[in-house]
Amino acid sequence: RQIYVNGGYLAESEAVIPVMDRGFLFGDAIYEVTAMIGGQLIDNDLHLARLERSLAAIDIPMPLPLDGIRQVQAELIRRNGMSDGTIYLQVSRGTAERDFLPAAEIVPNFVAFTQPRNLRDTPAQRNGISVALMPDPRWDRRDIKTSMLLGQVLAKQAAHAQGFDDVWLHEDGQITEGASSTAFILTTEGTIVTRPNSHSTLPGCTRQAVLKLIEARGLRFEERAFTIAEAQEAEEAFLTSASSLVQPVVRIGERMIGDGRPGPATRHLQELYLQTAG
Ligand code: PDD
Repeated sequence: RQIYVNGGYLAESEAVIPVMDRGFLFGDAIYEVTAMIGGQLIDNDLHLARLERSLAAIDIPMPLPLDGIRQVQAELIRRNGMSDGTIYLQVSRGTAERDFLPAAEIVPNFVAFTQPRNLRDTPAQRNGISVALMPDPRWDRRDIKTSMLLGQVLAKQAAHAQGFDDVWLHEDGQITEGASSTAFILTTEGTIVTRPNSHSTLPGCTRQAVLKLIEARGLRFEERAFTIAEAQEAEEAFLTSASSLVQPVVRIGERMIGDGRPGPATRHLQELYLQTAG
């Protein structure tokens, strides 16, 4: 695999970042993940717009103009012959002597790599997954896509240790989001519900694309916070992200959702999303 590092394409064994990189030392970095299905990048413009927004939020300059970033993605895909998988971008504040205050003249480090894998037709896509419930351990700017992911790593590890596939996080009795995804439910009244964007969650690109589909089809939906109890009593549940697309959720904590199999509304959205995206 070839990896992009600061202007060059290198063999993976040669691709290195300095120890004094602030992404490494402080988690002072922003990342993005875009899916590729059948040779086509999915919602990439939304991901690049969010990269720009996250970087601006923590005052890191764009490492290249948007078109330059698109070229890096295309070149990596070409060099690695990828048609299905994800492409990862990370921009750190740069390299400097370790100090909480960054040097004024610091220049960002930009790395990118491909991760080939099948995103469609997986057992999780077909059968749905279970999610554990855990208090949201993160800071108060979850709308910024920072590489500072220890809270999510520990939550996912704990969920796995308890036999769950993934985890939904909660705060003040309400679901915030998945550890790396946006949470949706279908209420018993037939309304699709997801939390509105705020500093409490990452504004999901897949969320945005799916809400557009839901609206275009005239399906009933509401953007509002929902409680743990409401989630566990939902008719159907699913999550969205670049790497899991529209992913059925069939168990939340100790409660089975519906009959424990992906429901028709989730199936419908799964197919719609693949049709429009792929
Ligand atoms: N995670 N919420 C969180 C906390 C996330 O980390 C992600 C994505 C999402 C969904 O966003 P999107 O639909 O734009 O992928 C929501 C990526 C996939 C990751 O960390 O690998």
